[in-house]
This record gives sequence, structure tokens and C-alpha cells, in this order.
Amino acid sequence: MLRVLSAVGTRPEMVKMAPVVKAVQNDDRCESLLLFTAQHRGMLDQMAEFFGVKADMDLDVMREGQSLVELTSRLLPALDDALARLCPDVVLAQGDTTTVLCAAMACFYRNIPFGHVEAGLRTGDLRNPFPEEGNRRLVASLSAFHFAPTDDARLHLLAEGIPDFSIHVTGNTVIDALLETVARDLPLPIAIPESAPLLLVTLHRRESFGEPLNDILLAIGDLVRARPSLHVLYPVHPNPTVKTSAKALLGDLPNVHLVAPLEYGVFVTAMRRATVILTDSGGVQEEAPSLSTPVLVARTVTERPLGVQAGVARLVGTNRERIQTEVARLLDDPDERRKMRVGKNPYGDGRAALRIVEILCNHTW
Ligand code: UD1
Ligand code: UDP
Repeated sequence: MLRVLSAVGTRPEMVKMAPVVKAVQNDDRCESLLLFTAQHRGMLDQMAEFFGVKADMDLDVMREGQSLVELTSRLLPALDDALARLCPDVVLAQGDTTTVLCAAMACFYRNIPFGHVEAGLRTGDLRNPFPEEGNRRLVASLSAFHFAPTDDARLHLLAEGIPDFSIHVTGNTVIDALLETVARDLPLPIAIPESAPLLLVTLHRRESFGEPLNDILLAIGDLVRARPSLHVLYPVHPNPTVKTSAKALLGDLPNVHLVAPLEYGVFVTAMRRATVILTDSGGVQEEAPSLSTPVLVARTVTERPLGVQAGVARLVGTNRERIQTEVARLLDDPDERRKMRVGKNPYGDGRAALRIVEILCNHTW
């Protein structure tokens, strides 16, 4: 039996690895082991509970306001010790967080093959997103299996000299999670009149901290003040920098609902119900095309250009006036929103996790 260890640290990793963990569990050629670094504590536990998965080992590394260096220095020895105890044949981790970089490094030092889920995303700018673009490039150089979600990701890896035989285009596992969840149709956490326009907001990127984040929040305030019927649903990321700014700039505005992070099923309902989504999240850009909700990406670059090319997402930067104009155009004009609907999600078909397990099982070990 192939011992497959999935290492998971943060909210988006749990969403995107849950389908993989379940596919490994359901395959009798494999033994599934689940390791939580708990780089995120509350949000990881919330997602694990939603998807009904339990960790075999939990490193519990999160500290309030952790710096990247502190986090890395706690993760590496803890991961090394976990690998020594769990003795996996292969380790899988998804994305570009500090957990993923440390898991790839720990595997490298112990000569354990590492499989990178969602490999090959690039902006081409090492400091944007920071530190994720650097993490992705480093992880690619240490991985034995590169599970690229889309063809463009495969091309990025080839351009960096990654051998073609180690790259597998699988689709993004987030679509597996989404399609399974959307059917549950859970209620929103607050009552919003059915006829009211709804702006759904998520923000958390480190490169936006300071003026860019404040500008985005000020633009939201401007939009609400100008539109008494508009509701804003904003599940605030628990990063202390984000929480403090959101509360200071939007805390007292009527119809701005600052809420704790939503359980995945409820957040999916919110994405479906929203008139417009304003976000800097990666996962949300991938999910929204399946829900026919237009997405404005509050960043200057994206490593997910397919949504922009398909027309469902628009890159609007962080400038206060620009964000106001772009959100207002969509809120006020149903034709503009219709133009952004797409027939097919370019990021996946809901079968990515099964493909990943099949590739691992068919590999000559
Ligand atoms: C991390 C990832 C980022 C990913 C994001 C998803 C890194 C460097 N950053 O950013 O790539 O897009 O997660 O959300 O890997 N906190 C809590 N409870 C939680 C989670 C976080 O209180 O459940 C607070 C803690 O004070 C923690 C802080 O948020 O120290 C920052 O967490 P951290 O994982 O370092 O960075 P994120 O900004 O969440
Ligand atoms: N999400 C959620 N509840 C929330 C906000 C986001 O379930 O309150 C989900 C969202 O659907 C997506 C993932 O969390 O699957 C995105 O997480 P985040 O934005 O923190 O990270 P990123 O995708 O930018 O790495």
C-alpha cells in the first residue's frame, strides 16, 4: 500500500486538499495520512470540520501575528520529526504558503518524494504576491510530481526547466470541493433583503498591507455611503493587520456586515448570492466562474489569468477611485454583469483529485 501523507496548514489548503484526502482514503491501493501544521488554527479547524476530515498528527504552530521567519523556523524541525514518525512514501501539499515550502524542504532533506498540488502558477514578479511567488518557484525545484491545474501552469514549469514527464495537468481540486458543496445550499449568516444588491468582500494579501489595503476599504465605504440599499458582506480574515484596518475604516457603517470567517458551505452560498465579489483571494477567483458571479480582483497582478481572459474576472488594482468606478459599474448595470458570465469554468471539471491519485498509483515506485 502506498502511504500518502497530505500536509495542510491554512484555510485554502484545507479546501483544496479535502478532495485529495478523500480520494486517497477511498482508494484501496493507498493508505491516507493527514498532517496539520495548523499555520492557521481557527480557520483550518473550521474547514476540516466542514469537510469531515481528521488529522493523524497536528503540529499546532500558529502564533498571533507570526512573522514569516518565526513560522518557518517552527515548521521545519516539527515537519522533519513528523516525517520521521509517519514514514510516508510520498507527501502532498497544495499551493504556495509557508507550510508548503517547509514541507517540500523537509521532504528534500529526508529524500521523500514531494507532490505539489496546484503547481506552476506564476505572476513573473518575485515580490508579488509576497511571499507566495517565491515559495512557488522554490517548491517547484524540490518536487517530484507537479500537479498543474491548467495548461498555462504546465508551460510555466517547462520554461523553468522542469522535466515534462513529472508534470501532470489535472484541473484544480478547488472545483472538486466546490461542486460537492454547492448542492448543500446553506443559508447566509445574516438576513439580507432579497432585492438588495450585495457586495461580497475578502481581503488578506500581505503585499497590500498599509496604503493599498486602506484604499480598498475606503472605496467600499464610499460605495456604501452613496447607495443606501447596498449591503456589504465581509468575512474578515483574522490576520491582526487586516482585522484592525477593516474595523477602523468600515466598523461603523450601516449595512456593512463585518463577520468572522464563514464556513465553506455558507461562503459558497454568499458567492452565489452576491451581485459582485471584490477580493484578493486566489481560490475565490477560481470558484466564481462556476457560480456566474462577476469578480473584481483588488490586486495589480494575478497568477490566474484564465478567469480574466474568459471575462468573469477583472483586475482592478487597489486605487480607491478605480475600485469605486468598477464596482459601481457592475452594481448599477445588469448588462455589465451579464457580460461577465461564462459557460464553463476554465480551472477544472471536478475530477482533479481522482486524477492525482490515479497518477500516484500508476507510478513505478
Ligand atoms: C496565509 C498564507 C497566504 C494564504 C493565506 C490564506 C503564508 C506566508 N501566507 O496568510 O499565502 O493566501 O494564508 O488565508 O503562508 N490567524 C488567526 N487564526 C487563523 C488564521 C490566522 O488568528 O485561523 C492570524 C494569526 O494572528 C496569524 C496571522 O493571522 O499569526 C497570520 O497568519 P499567516 O498564516 O502567517 O498568514 P496569512 O496572512 O493568514
Ligand atoms: N472562504 C471561506 N470562507 C470565508 C472566506 C473564504 O470558506 O469566509 C474560502 C473560499 O471559498 C476559498 C478559500 O476560502 O476556497 C480562499 O481562502 P483565502 O482567500 O484565505 O486564500 P487564497 O485563496 O487567497 O490562498
